[in-house]
Amino acid sequence: MNIKLIGITALLFAIPFYAQADAISELEAKYQAQGAGPFSAAAGEALWTKTFVDAKSGDRRNCTTCHTTDLTKEGKHARTGKIIKPMAPSINPQRFTKVKKVRKWFVRNCKWVLGRECTAQEKGDVLAFLKRL
Ligand code: HEC
Repeated sequence: MNIKLIGITALLFAIPFYAQADAISELEAKYQAQGAGPFSAAAGEALWTKTFVDAKSGDRRNCTTCHTTDLTKEGKHARTGKIIKPMAPSINPQRFTKVKKVRKWFVRNCKWVLGRECTAQEKGDVLAFLKRL
């Protein structure tokens, strides 16, 4: 393999990681602009595994209901049964590379699990936890 090819290959491998770092820092900056931070991976992990009781159905719900506790493994949607790809970016480099996608799912999943939207602090904490996996 010549030098040019090695360079291009290295660049292609690096792109998903840059995209991820970009999306995450953009989100963190937004949360900080709303007064949140510094972010804690430990607090994020605690929220990730905390169980909430749905006011209507009495169902017990948490983030692991669909994503499971082993984030390097596939999850399964609690209602539709659809397979959810692993959340750990080390296994799935597509994770947290699109700001829009992260925002959309934070809204949807926080509402379903917590019965409300997550705060900027909570979202920053969860990302701090997930991005290291
Ligand atoms: C009812 C099932 C379900 C529950 C419970 C759930 N999620 Fe998800 N989550 C999904 C699905 C489906 C996706 C989108 C599919 C995918 O990204 O593989 C997703 C995607 C996400 C994403 C976007 C990831 C990315 O690559 O951009 C984040 C962030 C997320 N979830 C956070 C959470 C948090 C935080 C909780 C707990 C408050 C939670 N989820 C609980 C089903 C769920």
